[in-house]
Amino acid sequence: MSRIPKQCKRLAEVDFPIAVVSKHSAKEKSIRHGHPSTLHLWWARRPLAACRAMLMALLLPDPADPHCPPEFIVEAREILLAHPGASERLKNEVASGEGLRKALLKFIGDFANWDVASNPDYLRTSRALVKAAHGDDAPLVVDPFAGGGSIPLEALRIGCDAFASDLNPVACLILKTLLEDIPRHGPGLADELRKVGAEIKAEAERALKAFYPDDADGSTPIAYLWARTIRCEAPDCGADMPLMRSFWLSKKLVRRRALRPIVRKGDSRTGGSSDPPVIEFEVFTPKSEKDVRGGTVARAKATCLACGNVLAPERVRSQLYAQRGGADVVFNSKGHRTGGATLLAVVLLHENKTGRQYRVAEDGDYRAVWKAQKKVVEIAEEPLANGLSPIPNEPLPPVGTLGFRVQRYGMVEWGDLFTARQKVALTRIAAVLNRQVNSPVAAPLAIALDGVIDRNASLATWRPQADQEKVEHVFARQALPITWDFAEAVPVSEATGSLSDRLEATIQTIESGSGIANNAGQVQQADATLSTLPDATASVVFTDPPYYDAIPYSDLSDFFFVWLKRTLVGHPLLRDPYDATNPLTPKTREAVQDETRMVGERPKDRAFFEDTMALAFAASHRVIGEAGIACVVFAHKTTEGWEALLSGMIRAGWVITASWPISTEMKTRLRARESAALDTSVHLVCRPRDKDAGIGEWGDVVRDLPARIGEWMERLSAEGVRGADLVFACIGPAMEVYSRYSKVEDAEGREIPLGGDPEASRPHERGFLAYVWEFVGRAALNQVLGTGQPRPTETAAAGLEEDARLTALFLWTLQATATDDAEEGDAAGGADHTDDESSDDEGDGPKKKKKGLTLVYDVVRRFAQPLGIHLSEWEHRIVEIEKGVVRLLPVSDRAEQLFGDKGADVVAGNIESVAKTSAQGAFDFIFDQPETAPTLKGRAKPRKGTLVRDEDLAARQSATTLDRVHAAMLLQSAGRATALRAFLQSEVDRGPEFLRLANALSALYPKESEEKRLVDAMLLAAPR
Ligand SMILES: C[S@@+](CC[C@H](N)C(=O)[O-])C[C@H]1O[C@@H](n2cnc3c(N)ncnc32)[C@H](O)[C@@H]1O
Ligand SMILES: [Zn+2]
Repeated sequence: MSRIPKQCKRLAEVDFPIAVVSKHSAKEKSIRHGHPSTLHLWWARRPLAACRAMLMALLLPDPADPHCPPEFIVEAREILLAHPGASERLKNEVASGEGLRKALLKFIGDFANWDVASNPDYLRTSRALVKAAHGDDAPLVVDPFAGGGSIPLEALRIGCDAFASDLNPVACLILKTLLEDIPRHGPGLADELRKVGAEIKAEAERALKAFYPDDADGSTPIAYLWARTIRCEAPDCGADMPLMRSFWLSKKLVRRRALRPIVRKGDSRTGGSSDPPVIEFEVFTPKSEKDVRGGTVARAKATCLACGNVLAPERVRSQLYAQRGGADVVFNSKGHRTGGATLLAVVLLHENKTGRQYRVAEDGDYRAVWKAQKKVVEIAEEPLANGLSPIPNEPLPPVGTLGFRVQRYGMVEWGDLFTARQKVALTRIAAVLNRQVNSPVAAPLAIALDGVIDRNASLATWRPQADQEKVEHVFARQALPITWDFAEAVPVSEATGSLSDRLEATIQTIESGSGIANNAGQVQQADATLSTLPDATASVVFTDPPYYDAIPYSDLSDFFFVWLKRTLVGHPLLRDPYDATNPLTPKTREAVQDETRMVGERPKDRAFFEDTMALAFAASHRVIGEAGIACVVFAHKTTEGWEALLSGMIRAGWVITASWPISTEMKTRLRARESAALDTSVHLVCRPRDKDAGIGEWGDVVRDLPARIGEWMERLSAEGVRGADLVFACIGPAMEVYSRYSKVEDAEGREIPLGGDPEASRPHERGFLAYVWEFVGRAALNQVLGTGQPRPTETAAAGLEEDARLTALFLWTLQATATDDAEEGDAAGGADHTDDESSDDEGDGPKKKKKGLTLVYDVVRRFAQPLGIHLSEWEHRIVEIEKGVVRLLPVSDRAEQLFGDKGADVVAGNIESVAKTSAQGAFDFIFDQPETAPTLKGRAKPRKGTLVRDEDLAARQSATTLDRVHAAMLLQSAGRATALRAFLQSEVDRGPEFLRLANALSALYPKESEEKRLVDAMLLAAPR
């Protein structure tokens, strides 16, 4: 077992390089080739960088801890000094415990970089360090919610043993391949796959080529671009209405292509009435964006190209419903298209031409589809060996399942997500693969086929983007929304989405993955609440569980599962181990909030999710040894849900000792970021609680808390940790104070719960976390408005009114941790691929964006309340609150509030004329004028029975320091230099608050904001 005594803290409990690791985590997202995550899609994968770094920090003891084994210190020093690139300076540095700690953290940060993740020097150093800490028996790392396997894979990389389990069979297939097969068989697996793959490709091509015919000039198709189509319902029209989100084919600068519709009047018939107009297309070369018309459908409202009539979303839906989604062409008995999907264009390659070629549809294209439709009927008649229909006929999840909206368009079975030709292709390839079910490459082959399926459903789209025009896969998002137009890849080509393409990608991933681990991991399909591991066998439990209703894993994975069942017929993994009658992936035991589902009598609501998580935490507690350590990853979009999850952990016997936020958003995006905690996950470090922990006294807990929080804030802010990141980094140490006891009671013996009613005043009603928020908020305010000392004391921000405190706290929370990196660039990759391009379902379209910085309401409320800030009373004056989001009004939006409809110019004129006589009292704010004030929206009135500071009450009724600073900024913005100078003089004469607040705001406003520019320019004009 571990050589590290229980009392010795691990690195992750004292420090963690969050800025560097966040940077590497974000960068990792843009790595495409050979990265283990490209083996098979899994939703919400953890970046390997974060897993690797956190694992190292969990496994290594803090060398500055008095209980740290001396032999670790000696060995770690030698190992770091032997690591290539070790400097002379390092020799001195590692001489002290503190210095060695710093050096270890530096190594951990460097090693998070994907570029060195397989570098032999780094592998050797990391494994040696783990060995120095744990001895010759490799420590066992357990992940009971392993998903795509990021955590156990990194455990293997640094020389640990890994045990990975997941309830989901698709996840388990990925895990088996990644953690067992690849390490066990090494590059041999790739060779075998190449060999068998070539045979399969040849066979598939023989069976399928006729459905994807080449052109007469020898061009080969690589994709067909389709539009679902409805009929115009205008009385005299009746034209086809192809639903298209865009007319672009290629945005490549040198080869721009787009479609242009041509409307032909219908032929007059002898009867007198005429046929409906016919819509045709031509491919043209647009000179600029302007030459290409906008789509025909937006937020499910469709426009007719012939007559301009607009069809409401209900009509669009009902017409598509009647066509069962409308991805198939409707033919008459002679094979002529009479309705259904319209073929917009064919994408081709020709050996003598550069780049992708585009042409419009021809009869031959439709003939091939007609042939496929007849073939599907034949295929459907022959059940598979296991009695299943070859085409997935399992039902889609019920309407209302998170992220699934296709059912409303008439797709009811999983098979409905594929066109007839796609069904032919996928069933034929599956049949060929099925003959390999006992071969060692069965799973990798099925994984390659899943990659084909992800790009060969009618929900895959065409991506005209300049970097590469190609078929975009279905799960570019964690959902299944409708796509109006879609791209049908050619599985027998060599292009994106083809069997050849996916086999090659799988081979590459196996090859690059086969160097990672020296030994194989162990994978099991299991429910995390029922751990099968013996007690006290794990050194580390590190897991990233599902989070409430964030992602419907099992529903999404059924997309692949229904095909895997038909490809790997009889494979032992592909079943529900807890319910033999379930045709899909396990649902009942899945830890997810989804009210559409029941467990017995009980809906899977919040409480179900929380109870399941508590059981899983208890199971993890059992497999951890006395001196073991654990880490649980939580998303922190909002802080809601935290209390329940944290209290589940505490009840399961864990003490929370640290918390580290790691963000996975690129800094380029962070700079523009408008809300805190975009893509951040908090890593909660915890330990099994002492059996004789006893009951804590509230008095002690609340006494220790401010110092504990203040200490961390001081140290972390010195390291550049900012805003919400800082808050979340403080929660862990604050929790330690509370969770080290089995429970905490006040002097009367009443238990102080973790969460409670934040409005209550007595601790046993208010709950512990409210105090944490209060102290953190107060420390933050002191830091930005007060003495500069991040010590939470009672004298916060003395002299500044409530609105200034609210604004400062808001801006402070938004600040991002500096990732101090020069190479920002646009490495994020695919950043231009926005959601509204991949889908444009109803209610999904781009909303009109309001200006201003935003934060989640829940976060603001938690801070504001304990600091005596009444959020709702500043609504419309400082903030807007809408749909769970608080928006800080931009200063420009406050002009009318501050100056009235007279505008800044008139007021400035007044100031100027008064200033000629005396500089004092020249400025009448609208708030100060009794006759206009009551009409002001959001005018604050004291609520009955609330305790309001006198000065706050006064502030809400008259112009505050913040109002005055904003007014000055507006004068600056209006270019009224003379008035501004006079005004500033009078403000400076009034007292120090004006400049104090203005300077604080200058430090807080986002770097590139208009506000920052204005406040700085205004300050330049201020008298010294
Ligand atoms: C956030 S994901 C894990 C992602 C993983 N860390 C990665 O990087 O790919 C959570 C996983 O929990 C699994 N899961 C949900 N309920 C479960 C249960 N009761 N037992 C075991 N696994 C479960 C889901 O299938 C999903 O794969
Ligand atoms: Zn029309």
